Amino acid sequence: MSGRLDMDTGTVKLAPSILAADFACLGQQVAEAEQGGADRIHVDVMDGHFVPNLSMGAAIVQSLRRVTRLPLEIHLMVSDPDVFLEEFAAAGSDSFLVHWEGNNNVHRTVQRIRTLGKRSGVAINPATSPAVLEEIVHDVDQVLVMTVNPGFGHQPFLRTTLPKIERVRELIERLKPRCEVEVDGGIDATTAPLVVRAGATVLVAGSAIFGDRDGVAAPMKRLRTALNAMERETEPAGRSALQRSQPCNSE
Ligand code: DX5
Ligand code: ZN
Repeated sequence: MSGRLDMDTGTVKLAPSILAADFACLGQQVAEAEQGGADRIHVDVMDGHFVPNLSMGAAIVQSLRRVTRLPLEIHLMVSDPDVFLEEFAAAGSDSFLVHWEGNNNVHRTVQRIRTLGKRSGVAINPATSPAVLEEIVHDVDQVLVMTVNPGFGHQPFLRTTLPKIERVRELIERLKPRCEVEVDGGIDATTAPLVVRAGATVLVAGSAIFGDRDGVAAPMKRLRTALNAMERETEPAGRSALQRSQPCNSE
């Protein structure tokens, strides 16, 4: 988006995805992410049906709840998200991201999340048009743009999603400016500045944070450094686009 060259990257939130963490020391890795400046923890839940992979259930959330004060964000890649909401909410989840794809009643799902007192977001896959968000964005706190096809970590970032992030940002500015725009998949120090420039305000990163031989804090710092460098390269010109897009609820 050519007009958005002024931004304050301090407002960009980082959401480490534990899918890439070492599960033998998960609590320690999450603690390191918290110390390294994580804003929330992203938990990928897969049922082997909605996506061709299995991951984790509510027991993991229950354990994590005891070791971190960070918000726990649950990305449900499951065929029937409604079935799992109560269990994950009771385990200590703070927010749910549910897919638009495959859910004939996504508005009902979002209502259920709100009834449970949790934040909600709708996720769209790379092949899904941002236009579908128009009818649901008023009812959610955030949208999630998948920048890889869901199901696995360590996949390369799909650059074709960049213009789509811009379109999502335009839609959000038009309909609900305080809604967060989150991206998920292939985010690292190279791609982070690209997605933020396109309009993202929350970045999920798995392998870039938990797959680094220097530990967890070092790659998080590299991500922040890359974002700060991008900010320095751009010319301040009035009110920041990111400042216009603060989250609905502060964390
Ligand atoms: C993919 C998941 C992502 C995944 C990202 O389906 O939704 O959250 O953990 O992993 P990386 O950052 O390695 O692409
Ligand atoms: Zn995810």
